Amino acid sequence: MSVLQLTDVSKRFGSGTSQVTALKDVNFTADNGELVLIVGPSGSGKSTFLTILGGLQQPTSGQVKIQNQAIHQLSKRALEKIRLNEIGFVLQAYNLVPYLTVTDQFKLVDQVKKSANLPTETFQALLNELGIEPLLKKYPDELSGGQAQRVAIARALYANPNIILADEPTAALDTARVEEVGRMFAHIAHQQKKAVIVVTHDTRLETYADKIYNITDGKLSQVK
Ligand SMILES: Nc1ncnc2c1ncn2[C@@H]1O[C@H](COP(=O)(O)OP(=O)(O)OP(=O)(O)O)[C@@H](O)[C@H]1O
Ligand SMILES: [Mg+2]
Repeated sequence: MSVLQLTDVSKRFGSGTSQVTALKDVNFTADNGELVLIVGPSGSGKSTFLTILGGLQQPTSGQVKIQNQAIHQLSKRALEKIRLNEIGFVLQAYNLVPYLTVTDQFKLVDQVKKSANLPTETFQALLNELGIEPLLKKYPDELSGGQAQRVAIARALYANPNIILADEPTAALDTARVEEVGRMFAHIAHQQKKAVIVVTHDTRLETYADKIYNITDGKLSQVK
């Protein structure tokens, strides 16, 4: 069973002469235990692809299945529940809450999702690995881009989701950190049997990926 499946998915924005086709007849599946990379230039449809995959927006046509459930058949509430319990998003804009310290960003996860978050020891190891401990008392506007990016990754992983969807998670990181994050994502996919899907233009991540797709003008093609 695929954990994520897109069948003939297209997404258009706007109408008439200003219409943009962001995704064209995309077919895609992802399974547990693999790190999948989707590589493409700016404007190629990466964020659109990822947000549709995670049920954050609906396609214009085609079908999206998350853990074998067609999301258009789910109530809003049921979809929210799946997103909360099954999917960890690392979004392009990080989406940290501006008035909360880094520590409180994690506490917020505890409030929204009350169970099955990472046990303390594993969480400490994650903070350590991503170099977040010195940042715990800071607010998002006191963080550099790379620091905010690492906090956003840790926050997504803290909820211990089965599916991790990451949008340009390494854009602000130096090469050493990119390698760490690449290894971490591969480890999570392989050891914990999760599905990790990363959209990026960062080809430094390619060595860690089990599968690689290119996306160009909204068209997806597998290259590995
Ligand atoms: N909400 C929207 N309304 C109108 N057009 C949109 C919307 N979202 C995306 N688009 C258009 O769809 C196309 C794909 O956008 P998308 O954000 O998916 O690209 P991307 O590959 O993530 O780019 P980047 O690397 O710059 O983040 C672009 O032409 C964009 O302008
Ligand atoms: Mg994008």
